[in-house]
Amino acid sequence: MRHPSTFSTYFLLLLLVPINAKPKVPAIFTFGDSSLDVGNNDNFITLAKANYRPYGRDYENQIPTGRFCNGKLTIDYASETLGFSSPQPPYVTLSIKGDNLLNGACFASAGSGLDDATAQQYNTISMNEQLEFFKDYQRELMKIAGKPKALSIISDGIYFIGSGSCDFLLNYYINPVRYNAYTPYQYSDILVQSYSDFIQNLYALGARKIGVTTILPIGCLPAAITIFGFRSINKCVTKLNNVAIYFNQKLNSTTLNLRKKLPGVNLVVLDTNQLSYNIVNNPSQYGFIEARRSCCGTGLIEVSLLCNQNSIGTCVNASQYVFWDSFHPTDAFNKIMAAHLVSQASPILS
Ligand SMILES: *[C@@H]1O[C@H](CO)[C@@H](O)[C@H](O)[C@H]1NC(C)=O
Ligand SMILES: *[C@@H]1O[C@H](CO)[C@@H](O)[C@H](O)[C@H]1NC(C)=O
Repeated sequence: MRHPSTFSTYFLLLLLVPINAKPKVPAIFTFGDSSLDVGNNDNFITLAKANYRPYGRDYENQIPTGRFCNGKLTIDYASETLGFSSPQPPYVTLSIKGDNLLNGACFASAGSGLDDATAQQYNTISMNEQLEFFKDYQRELMKIAGKPKALSIISDGIYFIGSGSCDFLLNYYINPVRYNAYTPYQYSDILVQSYSDFIQNLYALGARKIGVTTILPIGCLPAAITIFGFRSINKCVTKLNNVAIYFNQKLNSTTLNLRKKLPGVNLVVLDTNQLSYNIVNNPSQYGFIEARRSCCGTGLIEVSLLCNQNSIGTCVNASQYVFWDSFHPTDAFNKIMAAHLVSQASPILS
């Protein structure tokens, strides 16, 4: 393990300041895919798992928690910034009960999407099942905290949702049943409709402060360049990025309509796409050296089971890389993204 420099010691001290203060919001709830999953899939028989090395090698105590990252996710950094001293618990890990529930929980599941068929293919938790777990959570919370306190945790807590990328990369583009039935734009419309239903269901369950993240420029993920692009050119796949932009715009306009439709809702769309695109295309400006290959293995294709202790070529210093595996960014990237998300989230933090 690297010894902390004077600078990082200083930085850790700075982080301790908000940790001792009261968090800015009572609870954080997350729903969606691997961008937010802190370990729910550890409990399922699925290929979409990351609870083994080298995942987590830069996490506290080098523990592979199930996060698809070498270290922390964006949500981990964001919740630290908001004043939480411990990371969000994965709800499905049954040992997490009692007082741990008071600060919210993570319901996200890697490999899931807005199309329930995406999660079904990989035996992960679909968005609708995540809502069922949330109902179960609410019953537990009422028992522990009593009804009035539980209701205020639910209505004052903030909700982050991130989903959609898996529907394209792990379903639509590799599944002839979907690919032959719809154009990617028609499929985007279906996904955004499902997103809208999800948000309305969450609202009906008491959520009021909701931040929805846009999807990344999926054509820039190392796996996408390998599978759908041309490695010799080594550029992002424009066709996929255009679909992501379309999806995000549609999501944005849909949320504007939901704001009018749902009284008292505080709903914001949080950009991840533009910043990621800038980082991938100007890595050195953000302190990165490599943005086309990921750290794990050859960096062209390894993700999940293919990214393991025996993968040959895994980089030494993941901080120099934008991507940790061929689908997921590094801890260093997530830290930059968290600051960007928190700054946009101010409407739901008051
Ligand atoms: C959503 O649309 C609004 C209004 O057109 C725009 O100002 C905003 O930047 C968009 N947000 C995102 C995250 O794209
Ligand atoms: C890893 O890379 C980062 C970014 O280039 C650098 O700041 C850091 O010192 C490196 N760490 C080690 C142990 O070489």
